[in-house]
Amino acid sequence: MEKSPGKKKIAVLISGRGSNLKSLIKYSNQKKSLFKIVLVISNNLNAKGLMIANKSKIKNHYIKYSNQKNFENLVLKLIKKYKIDMICLAGFMKILSKKFIKKFSKPILNIHPSLLPKYKGLNTHGRAIKNREKYSGATVHIVNEKLDAGKIIFQEKVKILKKDTEKTLEKKVLKVEHKIYPRAIIKLLFNY
Ligand code: GAR
Repeated sequence: MEKSPGKKKIAVLISGRGSNLKSLIKYSNQKKSLFKIVLVISNNLNAKGLMIANKSKIKNHYIKYSNQKNFENLVLKLIKKYKIDMICLAGFMKILSKKFIKKFSKPILNIHPSLLPKYKGLNTHGRAIKNREKYSGATVHIVNEKLDAGKIIFQEKVKILKKDTEKTLEKKVLKVEHKIYPRAIIKLLFNY
């Protein structure tokens, strides 16, 4: 018998550390959670997130990123096998093609460490500090074929203090990321 009937099945794509993955797993392990992380895919064999998935007994796969087409075809196969309802990118550092997004045809979310549309791409904290921004934050958005673009689902600000460094700002923003990602998923899946 299915363990969690009614819970939406989520696949998380990662490339590295996996702290967002960890927080999503923690959230989804609660009895009342409306979704379940059932699959983790990494394009990086050494991603710490793979160990986190293993520890939590979640099916996980490393798929070599030889090229976009091969990678995406293999991801699609797994997504179909596990009857995935939503894909969440959590520190996944590759862009998905328009074809992939169309073929999956269900929501794909991404989390980004800035107040989008500001500071797309890498080194968001360093750039925000250098530009003397008063605020930074985190954004969860729908994925399209452009980098860190697509409809914003949830966003939360953090104040940048004079004493903040890239490291302290990253830590503050990450804390917010862990809080808003589950909320954004629920908002999108169930219109809460
Ligand atoms: C997070 O800060 C996430 O927002 C960022 O990578 C980090 C991954 O950390 N993603 C992007 O920059 C995507 N453009 P994690 O592996 O510990 O979750």
